[in-house]
Amino acid sequence: MEYETPLFFHVMEYANRAEGDVIDMVSGNPDWEPPEALREGLREYADLEPDRFQYAPSEGLLELREEIAARRGVDADQVVVTNGAGEANYLAMARALERDRGDEIVLTDPVYPYYPGKTTMLDGTQRFVATDDKGRLDPADVREAASEETAAIVVATPNNPTGAVYPESTMAALVDVAEEYDAILISDEVYDHYDLSGEFASALGVDSSHRIVTNAFSKSMAITGVRVGYAIFPPELVENAKSRHMLVNVATTRPGQYAVLRALRETGPDYYEANRELLRERVDTFTDALDTAGAEYTTPRGSFYVMARFDGYPGTLENVERLIDEAGVAGMPGEAFGDSRSDWLRFALVTPRVEEAARRLAAYFE
Ligand SMILES: Cc1ncc(COP(=O)(O)O)c(C=O)c1O
Repeated sequence: MEYETPLFFHVMEYANRAEGDVIDMVSGNPDWEPPEALREGLREYADLEPDRFQYAPSEGLLELREEIAARRGVDADQVVVTNGAGEANYLAMARALERDRGDEIVLTDPVYPYYPGKTTMLDGTQRFVATDDKGRLDPADVREAASEETAAIVVATPNNPTGAVYPESTMAALVDVAEEYDAILISDEVYDHYDLSGEFASALGVDSSHRIVTNAFSKSMAITGVRVGYAIFPPELVENAKSRHMLVNVATTRPGQYAVLRALRETGPDYYEANRELLRERVDTFTDALDTAGAEYTTPRGSFYVMARFDGYPGTLENVERLIDEAGVAGMPGEAFGDSRSDWLRFALVTPRVEEAARRLAAYFE
C-alpha cells in the first residue's frame, strides 16, 4: 500500500528554503495570541509535583473530558481526548471502517487532503461528491453517492479550503443518509469558533448513534503546536476507539490538557470574538486587494482560507513554487484539494501582512 506525505509539507519546506522575503500563507497556524490562561497554565505546570509529569489517563484527564462533555451536551464517557483533530479524525475513520459495513469513505471535492490520505492509509476506498462553486454541499448528492458500501461520510464545517459553513438542514440530512445506509457521519468541526456567518450547526445538534464529531483546541485557541483535540463517539462505538487511541498513543500530552482545561474555564467569549473580528478585517483587506488584482476568489463564511484564481495561472505545485520565488507569497496549490479546484490557489489568512501579500500578487499578475 502506498500513501504519500501530504503536499502541504513540501510547500512549507520550499517556502522555508526560499531566499528573499516570503509571506507565509500556506499553513493553518494562527499568528494570534492564545488565551492568557493557556500561557498561565503552561507556566504553572512547570512547577508541579513529579507525578504530574507521568502518564495522563489514556482517554484524557477526567476533568477535561467532563468540561468538554458539559459544553457539548454529551456524556463524559463518549469523549476521547486526542492528539489534535488529526488523531480524532483518524480514530473516527478507523472506527467506521472496522464496523465492516463497507469500505467506502464519502468525501467532498474539494477536500481537506488528510481525509483521502487517511482513507488510503486505512485501506478504505475514496468516493468524492462535488460541492458547488461556493463550496456548498447538497445532501441529495451525498445520498446518491452513498450505498451499502459506505462506511463513513466525512465533512468539515466550517470548511477548509472553501470557507463554506453547512446549515443545520444539511447537517440533519447528512446524519439521515448515514442512518439510512448504516454508515457514520464524521463531522470535523475544528473551525467552529471561526464561523463568520452565524450559521454554523454542529452535528451534535442531531441526536444519532450514526455520527462522530471531531474537534480540537488547535485553531480555537491558536495552539496548533500543543496538540489537544477530541472526538465524541456514540456510546456503542467509543470503547474500540479508546483502545486504538491507547495502542497508538498510550496517552495525550498532560501539560497541554492541563493548560487547555484552565483556558476553557477562564476564557470568556471576548477572546473568540476578537479573533473573529481580526479575521473579518483580514478577509476584507485581502479580498479588496484581490479585486484590484482582477482575481476571482471565494469569501470565506468560516475558517480562515481564501481561494483565488488568477487567469492563466493554474494551482499547480510548480506555479506555487514560482509564486514563492517570483512574488514572495506562499500559498497552497488548489490541486492539493482535488480536481475541482486545480485552477485555484489557497491562501491562509494567518499573517498580519495580508495586505502586502495581496499587493504583491496584484503587482505580479498585472
Ligand atoms: C479541517 C481540518 N481538520 C483537522 C485539522 C488538524 O487539526 P489538528 O491540528 O487539531 O490536528 C486541520 C488543520 O489544518 C483542518 O484544517
